[in-house]
Amino acid sequence: MLYFIVDNKLISDSNKFLMNTYNRFPIVLRKGRGMKVWGTDGKEYLDFIGGIAVNCLGHCHPKVVVALQKQAQRLLHVSNLYHIEQQIKLAKLLTKLSCTDKAFFCNSGAEAVEAAIKLARKFAKDHTTPDKYEIITAHGSFHGRTLAALSATGQVKLQKGFEPLVTGFKHVPFDDIKALKNSLSKHTCAVMLEPIQGEGGVKVPGANYLEMVRSLCDDHGLLLILDEVQTGIGRTGRFFAYEHYGIEPDIICIAKGLGGGVAIGAVLAKEKVASSFQHGTHASTFGGNPLACAAAIATIETLIEDGIIMDNCRRMEHYFRKALEKLRTEFPSLIAEIRGLGLLLGMELTTAGDSIVNSCLEKGVLINCTSGNVLRFTPPLTVSEREVDQLINTLEDVFEIHV
Ligand SMILES: Cc1ncc(COP(=O)(O)O)c(C=O)c1O
Repeated sequence: MLYFIVDNKLISDSNKFLMNTYNRFPIVLRKGRGMKVWGTDGKEYLDFIGGIAVNCLGHCHPKVVVALQKQAQRLLHVSNLYHIEQQIKLAKLLTKLSCTDKAFFCNSGAEAVEAAIKLARKFAKDHTTPDKYEIITAHGSFHGRTLAALSATGQVKLQKGFEPLVTGFKHVPFDDIKALKNSLSKHTCAVMLEPIQGEGGVKVPGANYLEMVRSLCDDHGLLLILDEVQTGIGRTGRFFAYEHYGIEPDIICIAKGLGGGVAIGAVLAKEKVASSFQHGTHASTFGGNPLACAAAIATIETLIEDGIIMDNCRRMEHYFRKALEKLRTEFPSLIAEIRGLGLLLGMELTTAGDSIVNSCLEKGVLINCTSGNVLRFTPPLTVSEREVDQLINTLEDVFEIHV
């Protein structure tokens, strides 16, 4: 139960005019700067959600804002029928930062996943037999809400009511190489995984899992697609999460942090795979438009400049994790486990997390709960020790009420 309602008129209009797809908190956010956001009533919040791993540089980072302003005065949009300067620059940057050679731009994570599915199927058609189309994904995975991405998602509760789903997906337990091996069939063309399951409860696989998946794919001529929509763009302390595991995927999906708050997604692929997309095989009207690409270039350049922000992400991971572990020892009956990588950290509770999230909101701190009982922290990678302390103090106060 929340004890404050800030803007009844806006909230009632929101409920009246918007489809009811989100169970929204009763606040309206109007302004943001760095780690802070303000409601229409002027109330200040410390943001440990960061748009769920989107605001990697914090809210309204000046370099992203200036890049957008400059680009908005020059050129907002042109069709992909023409070459686009900012898109070329962004593709060069992303391929240089990854193990891939080519990019396709879209507008969201689900679209990046859709493109990856199409690319894997097309590659299989081009290079193997026509009956290879099946993609294996994991239980508990989340790949987006469009129909093929939803069909790929390993969560039945999200798929209910939307049947018939797109065929050609098989789901296996995450972090279980034997189950993956046993699921391969003559129809399999690819394996698609999140390096860390974000929506599924911040689940980190064992150290060798992705390496074993890579070997399995190599042995059976399968593509490895990594959905780095949540883990990419520095979130785990490396630019891509796969870098922690010493492997190279064939296809990478990114979105979320890529535009620093502006909608953009991308699929990156190795040359041989990318060449299965030819004129007319895939497209997006807005994908990679000059404005979104200008934001993404400014975001990436700022993120990797001097390594300061990436260093901060790694330092803060240790500081934050230690503080969360300390809380766990203080509240062993409430907290089951701390897990995650970089600044994608999760705290598994022994009870539902909703009331904890609501109490934090009342105290001016935004956090998220996923999978019912996992508090998920995805703050901007610029977060400071002082801000982590503020969150920890708030959680401590809230837990004291809830034990
Ligand atoms: C791993 C992963 N893939 C895909 C998506 C879908 O991204 P979007 O909501 O931008 O379509 C998400 C969103 O949370 C995600 O976490």
